[in-house]
Amino acid sequence: MELVQRVARETDPRVWTLTTAACGLGGLVLVVQRIRCHWNAKRKIERAKERRAESLQRAEQAVSRYKDANPNMDSSLILSLSLSELTEQLQEGSLIPEDVFHSYMEKALHVNKSLNCCTGALMESLDQLETIGSSKDGLLYGVPVSIKDNFGYKNHDSSCGLIKHLEQPAEKDCVIVEVLKRQGAIPFVKTNIPQGLMSYDCSNPIYGQSVNPHNPQKTPGGSSGGEGGLIGAGGSILGIGTDIGGSIRIPSSFCGICGLKATGGRLSSRGIASGLPGQKSVCASAGPMAQDVDSLALCMQALLCDHMFSLDPTVPPLPFNMEIYQSSEPLRIGYYVNDDYTEPSPSVARAITEVKALLERAGHTLVPYCPPRVSQVINALAVKGTLADGCSTLLDNLKGGPVDSTLAAQVFFYRPCNMVKKILSLLIRPLFPRIADTLDALRGVGSIPNLWKLHTIIEDYMHEAIAEWRRCNIDVLLCPMIGPAYNFDYCGKLTSAVSLTLIYNLLNFPAGVVTVSTVTAEDEEKLRHYKGNYQDPWDKLFKQAVAGGEGLPVGVQCVALPWQDELCLRFMKEVEQLVKQKRR
Ligand SMILES: *[C@@H]1O[C@H](CO)[C@@H](O)[C@H](O)[C@H]1NC(C)=O
Repeated sequence: MELVQRVARETDPRVWTLTTAACGLGGLVLVVQRIRCHWNAKRKIERAKERRAESLQRAEQAVSRYKDANPNMDSSLILSLSLSELTEQLQEGSLIPEDVFHSYMEKALHVNKSLNCCTGALMESLDQLETIGSSKDGLLYGVPVSIKDNFGYKNHDSSCGLIKHLEQPAEKDCVIVEVLKRQGAIPFVKTNIPQGLMSYDCSNPIYGQSVNPHNPQKTPGGSSGGEGGLIGAGGSILGIGTDIGGSIRIPSSFCGICGLKATGGRLSSRGIASGLPGQKSVCASAGPMAQDVDSLALCMQALLCDHMFSLDPTVPPLPFNMEIYQSSEPLRIGYYVNDDYTEPSPSVARAITEVKALLERAGHTLVPYCPPRVSQVINALAVKGTLADGCSTLLDNLKGGPVDSTLAAQVFFYRPCNMVKKILSLLIRPLFPRIADTLDALRGVGSIPNLWKLHTIIEDYMHEAIAEWRRCNIDVLLCPMIGPAYNFDYCGKLTSAVSLTLIYNLLNFPAGVVTVSTVTAEDEEKLRHYKGNYQDPWDKLFKQAVAGGEGLPVGVQCVALPWQDELCLRFMKEVEQLVKQKRR
């Protein structure tokens, strides 16, 4: 204060007045900028909603025009077919792509009204229908496909639920969309995601919250949550999502469908928007979502073609190995129920035990196996790796607009500077060691040498897990999944539960989900005694999050070694069939 007064006394009063005026002006400019930014964000959101409503209206008109002109179309028959039945009938000509397309468009628009799972109808699909005859040989000839918001589709935003990505339409289709089209598929809607793809919920300030098709009080999961909801409700027969911590598998489990996170790098990611571009510690990956495993396999077969390998030569040119997918040799199967970090819900634990028994009865051998030291590596490697920049990219993504309420709790811990994170982590360590670990990991790595060290440790860890896998001499692995679907507003507070899925992104093993059961009254009763491995606030939240789940779908996870996507699918198919037979 004294210093200021002295400076004031000794400075020319004119300079003083000028400085004060400049500061005042600067402040005013800042305030005006803030208001303008806020206003711009609001306008951008309004325009995005208008675009969505307009595309919806045009799609509705197209459907009703088509139905008027073709009163004999049997939509309910079309919608009841599995993907393999549908492709067969399309190929032999007993069904036409126009009928299939309009049936699914109508159903998707209808489903969207209650689930809010679509972010836009792709009206270009109508033009594609006109020339679809030229892709008659395609493996997905005439099949409508839904795509997650972040897949580049020419002239449409890949918003990732972020205001700053609005009004920046893609210049061209991403590689996967291009290949799907070449195979005769017709991308027809884009589907909802959480803000910045940084949650396993499905809500953002632009398009709002999506809802679970089995229970409107529950989230569909995320981040490929719009896909999960739409497919789970029968509004799409095949969808495509991305997964960096469970984003395909979680909505598949929550919505009662199946989904495959392929080995990272097996499918092209060119043209797919990410919440963490350039992040190389933990592998993100695309993959299909559908009602049955055969559909996932067909989609993989369609994508793994020369066209993809030439559009994106960085993808290893490994075509789909049908022999492995169709083989029926007995398998050696690893299994675990608890990774010592996230104890699964009673319904999921029961599902693992039941599926294990079915597999044994079918002649397979089951051996205990769990990736080593999950409770350590999940924070020290996986969380630290994905947020190696100390969360700055994620926070940057959120600039220029409101933060979704579902992310509030999560972002609250991203924001503090590293010093504060460290102090908080030290303070809570005696009481809540794993929350302390997570907070510590949120500080990131700090320097490039540290990042390289982390990458070395991750590589060593992969080989440690593989060595243990070899020692147990297993082909595939059966393990728990997050589920059943959560009540709203828990995902953001309960980031720990992704350990069950994130571990296979860290290891870059292909991993899929098969729905095998539904929550029983007995499971709900057992949940009342759920304690968790740590008995900390996260374990308590988990119990509340999955409560009230009776009747909801229950999934298990199936895993294989890197590049063994076909073996993973074969195992998933085996599980699916055994469960189906048992129901009969
Ligand atoms: C989907 O449903 C929401 C909520 O009912 C609606 O606002 C939106 O316009 C619909 N969008 C599309 C493309 O179907």
